[in-house]
Amino acid sequence: PNKQQLEKLSNDIKERSIIDEDLRIILNSFPKSAHPMGILSSLTSGLVAFDPSAVNIDDEEDMYDAILNLLAKIPVLVAWVYRRRKGLSLEYGDTSLAYVENLAKMMFQRPNKEYVQNDTIVSALNKLLILHADHEQNCSTSTVRIVGSSFAGLFASVAAGISALWGRLHGGANQAVIEMLEEIQKDGGDTKKFMSKAKDKSDPFRLMGFGHRVYRNQDPRAIIMKETCHEVLDELGLNDDPIFKLAMKLEKIALEDEYFIEKKLYPNVDFYSGIVMRAIGIPFSMFTAVFALARTAGWVAHWNEMMMSDESKIGRPRQVYKGKTKRDIK
Ligand code: CMC
Repeated sequence: PNKQQLEKLSNDIKERSIIDEDLRIILNSFPKSAHPMGILSSLTSGLVAFDPSAVNIDDEEDMYDAILNLLAKIPVLVAWVYRRRKGLSLEYGDTSLAYVENLAKMMFQRPNKEYVQNDTIVSALNKLLILHADHEQNCSTSTVRIVGSSFAGLFASVAAGISALWGRLHGGANQAVIEMLEEIQKDGGDTKKFMSKAKDKSDPFRLMGFGHRVYRNQDPRAIIMKETCHEVLDELGLNDDPIFKLAMKLEKIALEDEYFIEKKLYPNVDFYSGIVMRAIGIPFSMFTAVFALARTAGWVAHWNEMMMSDESKIGRPRQVYKGKTKRDIK
């Protein structure tokens, strides 16, 4: 965009970042212990009820409005889900701030204290959101496309994408990495023992944050996230953090391990992103929700592209039945 277009987009997003007050009732009716991804998916779906008018896909303004509404409301929902879990009041940020600063404020501000921005947190969140914004036909994006292909609507399609992202083989890996590191630490910190488990075919344990369907050498996002991880831990004085030290030890032995080399298993973005989020004070149950917030930009771009294309058709994979034919009832 040129400068004016960027300014318009930015203002239009700010304009739409208000949530119907009744949605708080829905949010408050979830148990505090509920997983943020389940709540986020439900609230995203629930947004349709507050704006039930169907999006006319042939109307540019309608499409723009739907997309911006979602982009504007998701950060507020993510911040509110986080605050609800912490028992904090559900606050709006300050739309005079830039996107990331506003997000940090919405999440971390205390009701009785002025929020002071922390450059390290802002820069880390910024990189994290950019790195996770889009990643072609991953599991959740394909889900958004397949749901959207039936004209189910943008919010319903993205709600389905959030559910797909939740799984630990996909976006949920960032939470699973920290849980795994804590488990190894609790068990005495024997990384070799867990490496053996990861290679043992009779053991379901896998090294979380390693491997990728597409990247068979390096995950380029992981390289940037690793740098960010070092910066954040340096700046926040957390280099001696035992979980971080354990992660570095595990990374080293995995990179030198013959099985991992042969199978081309390298650390992926989630191996480091969880450490970064943990360092800046985000609880691990919220990691995948922050990923979802970032990926919303990619999901809406894919949905828009699909809706605008003359070649789009309903998603309908074929199935080849290879099972038994006639079976007699005994
Ligand atoms: N630990 C141990 N062994 C592994 C791992 C791992 N993390 N990942 C793959 N393998 C083995 C697997 O057992 C298989 O061995 P074999 O050929 O003997 O059967 C081989 O490597 C190939 O694995 P695969 O499961 O066929 O590979 P895939 O492309 O289907 O799966 C993956 C990709 C990411 C689901 C998988 O590597 C995995 O489970 N990783 C851990 C979860 C994770 O970190 N996910 C985040 C992905 S990046 C974020 C995102 O974009 O979603």
